[in-house]
Amino acid sequence: MAGEPLETLRWRGAPDGASLPGALELVDQRALPLRVETLRCEDVEATWEAIRALAVRGAPAIGVAAAYGVVLGAQAARGDLADVRGAALAAAERLATSRPTAVNLFWALDRMRHAAEGFATSGHALLVALLAEARAIHDEDRAMCRAIGAHGARLLPDPARVLTHCNAGGLATAEHGTALGVIYSAVAAGKRVEVLACETRPLLQGARLTAFELRARGVPVTLLTDGMAAFAMQRGRVDAVIVGADRIARNGDVANKIGTYAHAVAARRHGLPFYVAAPSSTFDLSLEGGGSIPIEERAPEEVTTFAGVRTAPEDVAVWNPAFDVTPAELVTAIITERGVISPVGEDALLAVLGRG
Ligand code: MRU
Repeated sequence: MAGEPLETLRWRGAPDGASLPGALELVDQRALPLRVETLRCEDVEATWEAIRALAVRGAPAIGVAAAYGVVLGAQAARGDLADVRGAALAAAERLATSRPTAVNLFWALDRMRHAAEGFATSGHALLVALLAEARAIHDEDRAMCRAIGAHGARLLPDPARVLTHCNAGGLATAEHGTALGVIYSAVAAGKRVEVLACETRPLLQGARLTAFELRARGVPVTLLTDGMAAFAMQRGRVDAVIVGADRIARNGDVANKIGTYAHAVAARRHGLPFYVAAPSSTFDLSLEGGGSIPIEERAPEEVTTFAGVRTAPEDVAVWNPAFDVTPAELVTAIITERGVISPVGEDALLAVLGRG
C-alpha cells in the first residue's frame, strides 16, 4: 500500500498567489490513523494550541510550526515596522510556553527572534523576511533528515529488524523523519528492513502514527505494546533499536518519549545497538547533562483513560512525564546530519557538531 507521504505542515498563501497574508495548515495528528484531517491555524493562539494539544508534534515539526506561528503573529499587526517587530517578538514569547522539552522549538524561535530584530525598511519588508526565515527552517529540516537518513542507513545490517518507539518519522518532521528517515533511506538503498513499532503509551504515537506512516510507505511493520519490547529482544527478534530525540545534552544524554530509557536498558542487556537519530537543532549544548533537561508532565487523564473511557479509579494519584532521559553510556551512536557521533560523549559530540 505504498503511497504519497502526507505533508506534515505547509504555509498556505492567499488564493491570488500571494504568500502573505497566509495560514499554517497541518495534518491534525490527533485524528490519525482513522481520518486524515487538515487543521488551519490563522493566528498565534491556534498555533500554540495545535502544539500544546499535539495536533502537530515531534521535535522538528514543532519547531517549524512555531516559526510559521511567529509569521502569523507578525502579519496580524498590519502596521509599521515597530508594530510588526513587536508582534513577532510577542508571538515568539507566547509560543515558547507551548511545550517545554523539545529544544527545536526554542531553537526555531531564537532564529525567528533574530530575524525579527534584523534590519528592515518597512513592516512589510520585515514580514517578508520572517516568512523567508520560517521557510528556511522548514527546508533545512527536509535536508537535515535526508542527510541523517544517508548516514544512518549505512549502520543497519541487511536484512534488519529494527525496533522504534514513538514517532520520529515524516509526521514528526518536515517530511522524511529522523529515526524512520534512517529506515526509509536504508530501504531506498535496497536493504530489507522490518520495523517493530512500540505502541507508546499513553498517547499511542507508535500505534497511531508510526504504524500508519510505515504502512503508507510500504515498509513492513509489526506493532507491539511497550512492555513487549524487552521480550522481543530476548527472543532474538530485534537487530537494532533506533529512536528520535527531543533534546540532547552536551554529554550525549538523550531526552525522548517516555519509555525510551527502558528500551535502551533492555538493548544493552541483550547486546543490541541503540541508535538515536537527531538533527543538530535537537542539541542543547548549554546543558552539561540530561538531569537539567526540562521534562513535560501532562494531564492525568492521559493515563486514567483509554480512548475516552475511564480505566482507573477516580482520584487515583498519577505521574505522567511525557519524556525520559537515556544516559549517554547506553547510546551506541547519535546519527546527525553532520555525521555519526560514536562513542557518545562530549568530545565526540563537539567534534561532529563543530561548535562549542
Ligand atoms: O510528545 P511527542 O509526540 O511530540 O514526542 C515526540 C518524540 O518523543 C519523538 O521521538 C521526538 O520528538 C523525535 S521526532 C523526530
